[in-house]
Amino acid sequence: MAATVYIVFYSLYHHIYTVAKEVQAGLEAQGVTVKLFQVPETLSDDVLQKMGAPPKINVPIIKPEQLTEADGIIWGVPVRFGQAPAQLMSFLDATGGLWAKGALAGKPTSIFFSSGSQHGGQESVVYNTMSYFAHHGMMFVPLGMANPNLGDNSEVVGGSLWGSGTVAGGDGSRQISEKEKEIARSQGENFAKVAIAMTKGKAVLEKAAEKKQPVPPKTDEAKPTPVAKKTVDEKKKTVDEKKKTVDEKKKKKFFKGCICM
Ligand SMILES: Cc1cc2nc3c(=O)[nH]c(=O)nc-3n(C[C@H](O)[C@H](O)[C@H](O)COP(=O)(O)O)c2cc1C
Repeated sequence: MAATVYIVFYSLYHHIYTVAKEVQAGLEAQGVTVKLFQVPETLSDDVLQKMGAPPKINVPIIKPEQLTEADGIIWGVPVRFGQAPAQLMSFLDATGGLWAKGALAGKPTSIFFSSGSQHGGQESVVYNTMSYFAHHGMMFVPLGMANPNLGDNSEVVGGSLWGSGTVAGGDGSRQISEKEKEIARSQGENFAKVAIAMTKGKAVLEKAAEKKQPVPPKTDEAKPTPVAKKTVDEKKKTVDEKKKTVDEKKKKKFFKGCICM
């Protein structure tokens, strides 16, 4: 399969889940393998009941280390006071060990969202969540003007050029519209193309790096090349290796006292 993308979300009243399924359809249309996950709940059953939450969605709960298995990750984020819910931030706070190892660096990532009202923070939730991805060195993939419905002002249309989305309504009674579904599928398709290109490109680079590995001499008679006769490439390699060692030492020193691991 071309690439594997994880959709990781939090959804209290299931609106985000409906968007997730459309994003999934868009990804799968491009041949990507998709797995859906939710982040752990942090509220007690008592509080959830008081909030009128329906039963939990039947989707597996993700552990931070599982994120490394994916070639790309898309996050489903319902708006809370213009930013991500504590459940998602708490999960992301638990990714410090992955950050220390650079385990998610270079992976493409994207966000879709849901808010009570049209102007309740559909874009601010993206800005406020992006810092996590910048620190992880992940590559944020925006939606851009990938679907004409994003320019439609004739009715309420959730989503923006930052990602797809739906508007749940103040009481949660509004359901995802056909136009929002189309936008969400576009996000899936758009992201799939990037994830496939990056996964293929990574494989090519890894293969090229394997070829560059120095070949050991075949016989014991092989004599070491005098320093003066070293080629420009070999000298550069020596400098690169020295720099790598210094960088590794610096990294070790930096992470030595880090409580994030
Ligand atoms: C504590 C709390 C804070 C919220 N803050 C906002 C907000 O700032 N702006 C907004 O438009 N909606 C807000 N909402 C509404 C949620 O965004 C809405 O319920 C959610 O997008 C629905 O998605 P879900 O069904 O997947 O849970 C808030 C809801 C809760 C419970």
